[in-house]
Amino acid sequence: MYPAVSIVDPDLISTLPRPIIASTGLAALTHAVEAYLSKPATLITDTQAVKAVRLILGSVEAAWTDIENNHQAREDLMMGSTIAGFAFGNSDVTAVHCISESIGALCDVPHGVANSIFLPEVLAYNMPACMEKMADLAKKTGIGPAETSDEALALSFISEIRSLSKRLGIPSFRDLNIPMDQMDTIARMSFANNSNPSNPRDLDESDYRIILENALE
Ligand SMILES: [Fe+2]
Repeated sequence: MYPAVSIVDPDLISTLPRPIIASTGLAALTHAVEAYLSKPATLITDTQAVKAVRLILGSVEAAWTDIENNHQAREDLMMGSTIAGFAFGNSDVTAVHCISESIGALCDVPHGVANSIFLPEVLAYNMPACMEKMADLAKKTGIGPAETSDEALALSFISEIRSLSKRLGIPSFRDLNIPMDQMDTIARMSFANNSNPSNPRDLDESDYRIILENALE
């Protein structure tokens, strides 16, 4: 479904509760990061994705702290979320969404929570296939010193996302209490997801099983 018109008004989120700011803010970040790293990414979607990552990283914590009295934070967050939508709407999302859409279909877990949990897990697993581009994203969004190696930059990008999730109170995968007998189904559905071919690293069902196990640890 594509809307004919969207009303992008940051004042509409002035009273958004903290857990929703955290999960939807990190879900918007997921949209931007996945758009940037997905196989169909283009120069145009990359430009939008980088801007979105910068806006969201620069505002989500301030919005979480006091959204009601911080107009700039909610405006940046909403604009970042909107631009992230342009980016992934014209490239694609990747394995994070393959997993979160599968979990969302089977269990009562909000989309943003599942995205927030699996973003760092999928980035870590994808790293060998897109280290240079991940490092590039880290540099362009001010994470890690530019003179370090691609590997160090990619790792700092992932650890920044992990610590941001922690600071914003995102639960762990274990906290969701998903029955263990669902893991094979989640892996199978993730592999079958439309966006799986857009993931920078070729993943089969067993790769998804490993990502789920890594997240449980
Ligand atoms: Fe999404």
